Amino acid sequence: MTQPTAPATGPSSATAGIPAAPSSNVSASVPALRVRDLRKTYDNKVQALKGVSLDVAEGDFFALLGPNGAGKSTMIGIVSSLVNLSEGAVEIFGTDLIRHRDQAMRLIGLVPQELNFNMFEKPLDILVNYAGFYGVPRAVALVRAEEELKRAQLWEKANMMSRTLSGGMKRRLMIARAMMTRPRLLILDEPTAGVDIEIRRGMWKTLREINAAGTTIILTTHYLEEAEHLCRNLAIIDQGRIVQQGPMKTLLAMLDVEGFLFDIDGTLPAALPSIEGVTMLASDDHTLDVDMPRAMDLNRIFAALGQAGIRVRSMRTKSNRLEELFVRMINQPIDSSAASTETAA
Ligand SMILES: Nc1ncnc2c1ncn2[C@@H]1O[C@H](COP(=O)(O)OP(=O)(O)OP(=O)(O)O)[C@@H](O)[C@H]1O
Ligand SMILES: [Mg+2]
Repeated sequence: MTQPTAPATGPSSATAGIPAAPSSNVSASVPALRVRDLRKTYDNKVQALKGVSLDVAEGDFFALLGPNGAGKSTMIGIVSSLVNLSEGAVEIFGTDLIRHRDQAMRLIGLVPQELNFNMFEKPLDILVNYAGFYGVPRAVALVRAEEELKRAQLWEKANMMSRTLSGGMKRRLMIARAMMTRPRLLILDEPTAGVDIEIRRGMWKTLREINAAGTTIILTTHYLEEAEHLCRNLAIIDQGRIVQQGPMKTLLAMLDVEGFLFDIDGTLPAALPSIEGVTMLASDDHTLDVDMPRAMDLNRIFAALGQAGIRVRSMRTKSNRLEELFVRMINQPIDSSAASTETAA
């Protein structure tokens, strides 16, 4: 479907197609989001952000990752104007958030972490009323609502009480609602939390479509696999600071260790073979946990195991690679990485 323009006139603009995004889908023009030295200290003295700087290019699909309490929701709250910043600057497509709040806000669609629509309203009404609140004429809103509900596979539920929707449907309704104002920047705070994998995949498809039609997307997620599937660029945030940022591919390429689980025929001996650079641990009597350099030949492992009389029945990759990266990044000093582009003062 076509993505209507909203930039200058805001959410009340009529629908019209914008030119197709370039193949990379990321333009070098004014960034969709520019954050400089952002700091937030809450009233209780918690320093949730300690100088965060980042750019998200127009057209990007960007992941904000970080452990619980890292500051992700605080950052999203500031960008979507729900939380006041303590220091720093935020621009949405070049519009200063502090000086031109309303103008900046019209460019953003937010899907917050918590479900926050009226459960006693119907999906169609929720969407149309939301658009109306942002000045979209009712006739336009009705057309958009049908489009969005169909995209969210909720059209047949349009006139049912929202309370009766399943958890996954409610999450999709949140996305549909955010799209009603035709935002140029869609921000989602853990949109797929608690959603089963099948529905999550459906939501990924929807988000990819929205991005392909030209909307820049930023999402936070605890499902690292989700970020790996969807996002081109990411920032990892920990304790209020960005510890790593860059293209997903670059960051994944930095991983030089691979982990495997070997299922063993019979029982493992007490003494495991020792190979330089390889860590082997028995996770139980018949499962061997192996960490090895990526450059190393698996044959070396198999040969050593064979010599020790250990027969491998099957093997699987131990963990998601991004997960490994994530754990490593939040356990190492900030300046030890080549891919970091942090510009914080
Ligand atoms: N309204 C608030 N008042 C005081 N402290 C807060 C408030 N909101 C968040 N904090 C604190 O700020 C820090 C960052 O919280 P934030 O919600 O931004 O983290 P997060 O990365 O979104 O975590 P999660 O993954 O658990 O959602 C935490 O220490 C949190 O307790
Ligand atoms: Mg959060």
